[in-house]
Amino acid sequence: MFKNTQQGYGIVAIVLHWGMAALMIVLVAMGLYMVSLPDAGFDTRKITLILYHKELGVLALALAIARLCWRLGNVLPRLVDRLPDWQKVAARFVHLSFYGLMFALPITGWIMSSSAGLSVSVFDWIDLPDLVSRDDDLFALFIDIHKWLGYALIGLMLVHIGAALRHHFFFKDETLKKMLPASGLSD
Ligand code: HEM
Ligand code: HEM
Repeated sequence: MFKNTQQGYGIVAIVLHWGMAALMIVLVAMGLYMVSLPDAGFDTRKITLILYHKELGVLALALAIARLCWRLGNVLPRLVDRLPDWQKVAARFVHLSFYGLMFALPITGWIMSSSAGLSVSVFDWIDLPDLVSRDDDLFALFIDIHKWLGYALIGLMLVHIGAALRHHFFFKDETLKKMLPASGLSD
C-alpha cells in the first residue's frame, strides 16, 4: 500500500507526485506573473509575490529531497507493456529531467537570491546560508538560467501531461490509473 510495486505506485509516491505537480505548476505560474509586474512605486505586489515564491520554492526543494530518497528506496513500476521502445526511453528521459529540474530550479533560485544579497528563509523561521557572495554579474546570469530552466519545465510538463491524457483517453491503458490512489491500495 505505501510502497511501489512493479504494477503501480504506492500511496507515498502518489501523494508526493500530485503534491509536487500542484506546487510546480503554482510556482511556474507565479514566477511568470510576478516578473510581468512593475518593479517599484506604491505597488508592492511584485515584491510580496517574490517573497512567497522563494518560500514555496524552498519547500519544493525539501520535497524533492524526500521524493528522491523515496524513489531510490522503491522499485520503479513498469511502463505499460505495449509501448514502443522509443516511447519508453522518452518517458524515462522526461521523468529523469523532472528530477533534475526539481533540484536545479530551487538551487538556481537560491544562488540568484544570494548573489543579489537577499538571503533565503524558510517561512521566516530558519535563515538559510548564502550559497555565494553578492555579485551583480552572477545575479544577471542566474536570472537567465532560472528563467530558461522554468521554460524547459513548462515544455516538459506539456509533453508529460499530453502523454498521460493520451494514454488514458485514447489508448485507454493503465498509465494514469497507476498514478491514482486506487492502484496503490489494490496492490
Ligand atoms: C521548483 C521551484 C521553482 C520554480 C518552478 C520556479 C520558477 C520560476 C519562474 C518560471 C520564474 C519566471 C522567470 C522569468 O520569466 O523571468 C521565476 C522567477 C524567479 N524565481 Fe523562481 N522558481 C522556483 C524556485 C525558486 C527559488 C527557491 C527561489 C529563491 C530562493 C526563486 C527565486 C526567483 C526569483 C527572485 C525570480 C524573479 C527573477 C526576476 O526578477 O526576473 N525561485 N521562477
Ligand atoms: C498535472 C498533470 C500531471 C499528470 C496528469 C501526470 C501524470 C503522470 C503519470 C500518469 C505518471 C505515471 C507514468 C508511468 O509510470 O507510466 C507520472 C509520473 C511522473 N510524473 Fe507526472 N503528471 C503530472 C504532472 C507532473 C509534474 C508537474 C511533474 C514535475 C515535477 C511530474 C513528474 C513526474 C515524475 C518524475 C514521474 C515518474 C514517477 C516518479 O518518479 O515519481 N508530473 N505522471
